[in-house]
Amino acid sequence: MPQAPATLRDMAASDVGPITAMDALLFGVDCWPRQLFEDELAAPLTRRYIVAEVPGGDGRPQTVGYAGLMCVPPIGDIQTIGVLPEFEGRGIARAMLAELIGEARRRGARDVMLEVSATNPRAQELYRRFGFEHIHTRRRYYRDGSDGLVMRLSVAAWTGAAAADAAETTDTKDPS
Ligand SMILES: CC(C)(COP(=O)(O)OP(=O)(O)OC[C@H]1O[C@@H](n2cnc3c(N)ncnc32)[C@H](O)[C@@H]1OP(=O)(O)O)[C@@H](O)C(=O)NCCC(=O)NCCS
Repeated sequence: MPQAPATLRDMAASDVGPITAMDALLFGVDCWPRQLFEDELAAPLTRRYIVAEVPGGDGRPQTVGYAGLMCVPPIGDIQTIGVLPEFEGRGIARAMLAELIGEARRRGARDVMLEVSATNPRAQELYRRFGFEHIHTRRRYYRDGSDGLVMRLSVAAWTGAAAADAAETTDTKDPS
């Protein structure tokens, strides 16, 4: 498959349907209801949601990933992140995470937090490479019964190095 660069843009109301379907595919019993995405998009003062697109077969952009941040300084929280399986391993999650950590920094966050399942080594590795550290375990946090690992990144210590090569091929673009 050709490795077309991904483009990031802010999530729009029209993305909510496709993103809810993608979330169900990626997270199964732990997926979010559509209303939750709508509520998140309705709170831009404390939230930023983005999508990643690549050129589709018909030349039109195809949405292949999404991610969301809640930020109430001094804490930012990565609420969710996902990439379609066929587009994994291209640095798309890395680019989205870098964008949201940068957003948290712009909004005055000192730390960025997230939860990841203890049964998700792929995502844990992604976060570790950014410098996130495991600080706490929430027993049976997820509906599938798995533990949640709480991870924290000090924004001041973040250099963006983990995302450097992804950032070269990814632009951020607001659709408005
Ligand atoms: C986790 C997820 C978001 C990663 O998306 P992605 O676009 O494939 O990630 P990237 O290509 O940016 O990879 C980033 C890093 O993840 C790690 N990673 C990627 N593939 C990996 C694999 N097969 N095994 C272990 N680590 C891997 C690596 O550290 C990689 O960095 P590298 O490319 O420099 O080696 C994606 O697999 C996904 O959506 N999974 C289902 C939903 C989910 O688990 N979301 C996270 C919830 S906390």
